[in-house]
Amino acid sequence: MDILQTANERMEQLAALMNKDTKQKVSADQKVKVGVDLGTSSIVFVVLDENNVPLFGAFEFADAVRDGLVVNYRESVEVVKRLKDRAEKSLGISLTHASGAIPPGTIGNNKKVVANVIESAGMEALYTIDEPTAAAAVLDLKDGAVVDVGGGTTGISVFKDGDVIYTADEPTGGTHMTLVLAGYYGVSVEEAEENKRAQKESSEHFSVMRPVVEKMAEITRVHLEKSPSEPLYIVGGASAYSQFKDTFESYLKMPVFQPNYPQYVTPLGIAMSSGSGNL
Ligand SMILES: Nc1ncnc2c1ncn2[C@@H]1O[C@H](COP(=O)(O)OP(=O)(O)OP(=O)(O)O)[C@@H](O)[C@H]1O
Ligand SMILES: [Mg+2]
Repeated sequence: MDILQTANERMEQLAALMNKDTKQKVSADQKVKVGVDLGTSSIVFVVLDENNVPLFGAFEFADAVRDGLVVNYRESVEVVKRLKDRAEKSLGISLTHASGAIPPGTIGNNKKVVANVIESAGMEALYTIDEPTAAAAVLDLKDGAVVDVGGGTTGISVFKDGDVIYTADEPTGGTHMTLVLAGYYGVSVEEAEENKRAQKESSEHFSVMRPVVEKMAEITRVHLEKSPSEPLYIVGGASAYSQFKDTFESYLKMPVFQPNYPQYVTPLGIAMSSGSGNL
């Protein structure tokens, strides 16, 4: 069986719902699981039923988090409140519990901020899990490595028997791909970001960004040398390009697995790992 089949089925279901705000009334006693992903480039809100079937998904772009740290608390809370409100309208129930995630290695108060944002948005914060563990839940991964290429960073996490045994996070991410595009085409960063998302299949675009992607592959190579592991999965929004996975495979000379809609893997995994709300 294709090792990504189950993950891809869920990703497709979630992607089909994303930002559609489809009315999907669920009964008041139905248990649901809610995940909130506070990312550098967007905040994503996912609601699942008890069997992890997506019921609602929405995101807003937000500049409230940098490399996993909440830098604009009020904006984060406002975005989460708005997303919760949309979910409640769409499902016809009130959402009382949610879980969040933090990058590996986050400590002290920074760890608490995510739960505080969820609580300030009017829900009880159930769990704060680390992002690679969320991704591993979606991928059903016990042994192997996950590379998460987000907005600001490339994170590598190695799993053994279901536990994270090695993590690293390096400051090269999707933003750096955008900066290279902006410089090459002489446009603003905002315009480059829009063009980047609109032209995911463009090989001309990708050839401009390829050196950045190769640097991400090099970062991955160095860390996998320290903690060798297979299979290797890539997730994260910055990897959502048709040639991204191939570039990693040819650079690393090993097979690389990438689910569809890699930008939604962490948010889905947070919700999957959450307990039932709406008690
Ligand atoms: N649908 C998409 N198509 C193309 N690129 C995308 C898409 N969604 C996100 N990206 C790119 O992915 C990057 C953000 O990835 P992702 O959403 O995984 O990051 P994040 O979780 O917000 O950030 P981080 O994990 O670093 O905190 C941005 O550079 C953005 O341009
Ligand atoms: Mg992320």
